[in-house]
Amino acid sequence: MYRSIIRGIGSHLPQNRLTNADIEKMVDTSDAWITSRTGISERRIASPGEATSNFATEAAKKAMDQAGISAEDIEMVIVATETPDYLFPPVAVIVQHRLGLNKAGVMDIHATCAGFITALQTADQYIRSGMYQNILVIGADTLSRFTDYTDRSTCILFADGAGALVVSRSETEDIGIIHTATHANGEHVQSLLIPSGGSLDPFNPSKEQKTTMYMDGPKIFKLAVSVMSETAKEVLDKSGYSVDQVNFLIPHQANQRIIDAVAKNMDVPQEKVISNIKYVGNNSSATIPIAIDANMKAGKIKKGDTLLLVAFGAGLIWGGALIKI
Ligand code: ACO
Repeated sequence: MYRSIIRGIGSHLPQNRLTNADIEKMVDTSDAWITSRTGISERRIASPGEATSNFATEAAKKAMDQAGISAEDIEMVIVATETPDYLFPPVAVIVQHRLGLNKAGVMDIHATCAGFITALQTADQYIRSGMYQNILVIGADTLSRFTDYTDRSTCILFADGAGALVVSRSETEDIGIIHTATHANGEHVQSLLIPSGGSLDPFNPSKEQKTTMYMDGPKIFKLAVSVMSETAKEVLDKSGYSVDQVNFLIPHQANQRIIDAVAKNMDVPQEKVISNIKYVGNNSSATIPIAIDANMKAGKIKKGDTLLLVAFGAGLIWGGALIKI
């Protein structure tokens, strides 16, 4: 039976820093409030002319370099994003062209902040079925373009960036993607959405519209803690692992208090929880691969470690994965 292994990983953050001090000048807030309620001190956001495809391409290049794989060997590009450059075509085809991946099929997966887990699950199924041997899985988002910088309850959280993995076929049983799970409940669509600019209410400059994010923060907070905790337990149960066998829990980086609450529900001690939200913020589909990459580079996560990943996003959509990196 085939297994999917992570052969290379890379990430990219835009240069432009948006600090809490900068946000204090935009809305009625304070560094102390943002730090204590979210754990975020600064985030990286796109400069004019940059878009999701730029970050995705840079992250993918690094993942391919680390994997030592040639463009000819990539058979599929999957980009998880909720903020594509255009409504169509997808970001994946732009990455495919820029990196000369001439033999690859492409797709974008839109599963909000659970997009990376959904993309990883999709790649894993292609590999397990025997269809493909090497897939580029990218989580990339540019939420700053859909954030209202006069709304203090959202502009403190969101950010931009990308993380990428080369996922490849292996016949070794004890490494790679062990189990994945994805779930959804569309009852909560109106609690976190961009109301206008889609096919229901297309952009119309002569109309008053909301083309930036609306979020019921406290409601999403409670849902996030509950679904991520449940899914983490489900993934462990289904794969026959105990929480003690996990080296690191890596929750979607949405709010430090959400990360702490999930860790507490799972009885995972602080030293086994990965958080880089302080300097990165919430860049949606990119948070988990960026956190893995940064912590591998820092030597905290080591080759062979077992990682429990959990994410949630607008919809509500959520999922988890257990991987031996
Ligand atoms: N600065 C100062 N005060 C603030 C700010 C701010 N930036 N934002 C809100 N407040 C105020 C509120 O107005 C409120 O004041 P009031 O009591 O006088 O009415 C008070 O702080 C408490 O507001 P809450 O909304 O209850 O604050 P909370 O502690 O819940 O924090 C937050 C708000 C940070 C938005 C939190 O609810 C949260 O993180 N929610 C989850 C968000 C999330 O994870 N979204 C995921 C998106 S995933 C995707 O797909 C995009």
